[in-house]
Amino acid sequence: MNVQSMSVKPVSSQSVPSQTELVGIIEASGSGEAEFFGYPEVANGLYLQQDPEEFASFVHFMATKIPPAKLTLDIGIASGGQTKFLRDYFSAEKTIVVDLGEHPLFPHWERIKKGVNSKIILEIIGDSHAESTREKLLPYANQVDFAFVDGDHSYRGLRQDIFLTKELLKLNGYMALHDTSAVADCRQVYDDLLSSRDFTLVRNYHNRFGISIWKRINNKRKPNFWNRRFGIGKI
Ligand SMILES: C[S@@+](CC[C@H](N)C(=O)[O-])C[C@H]1O[C@@H](n2cnc3c(N)ncnc32)[C@H](O)[C@@H]1O
Repeated sequence: MNVQSMSVKPVSSQSVPSQTELVGIIEASGSGEAEFFGYPEVANGLYLQQDPEEFASFVHFMATKIPPAKLTLDIGIASGGQTKFLRDYFSAEKTIVVDLGEHPLFPHWERIKKGVNSKIILEIIGDSHAESTREKLLPYANQVDFAFVDGDHSYRGLRQDIFLTKELLKLNGYMALHDTSAVADCRQVYDDLLSSRDFTLVRNYHNRFGISIWKRINNKRKPNFWNRRFGIGKI
């Protein structure tokens, strides 16, 4: 069956495992590197780059507290294991992914994407900061319900991704950021967001890497050229 035509199974909240069960399922799905992540790699597994406890709390919250999404966006997917895992529990009708395609684990995406419980409507293998990427994404402006932003981890690079996400996210939509505890540049962006007038912090899970969830509560600042091109300016 063609991936594009596969039907998407809605996720029922009754079928969401407990956080403890999710930790076990994450570990059984396999990490991207046993030594670094602390759980084994699994042949033909998901090659997750996630801390089990932190990711389990995040997935459980998304699955039980956030309304089903019509459109979701992932910036930075590596193997795509996280893209798949979340959508097994959080209902996402359609998904857009953006990645440079250069990560050593990226070749797994070809296999993993066939099992993603969401219709992949657009796959951009390129730089999220490129104007050509923005042009491909702009038809979805103000339509994204949820975005997972885990691409460029530099201060300005992450801010550029957030300004891009801002153009795409619906009012009252959600954005998750990864590594907002472990990577100094991402932590600095987290601090900037705390004083944003457009985003408010909803949850912060920080067992090891840090996954923070933000809600877009206002449209006060529309991203401008300087925001997009250099990642500077009020967020
Ligand atoms: C930390 S990995 C993502 C891990 C994945 N989200 C997970 O949880 O398993 C970061 C990914 O972002 C991608 N990336 C980095 N900079 C990027 C950019 N400017 N545009 C698109 N993708 C980028 C890398 O290619 C890599 O695959």
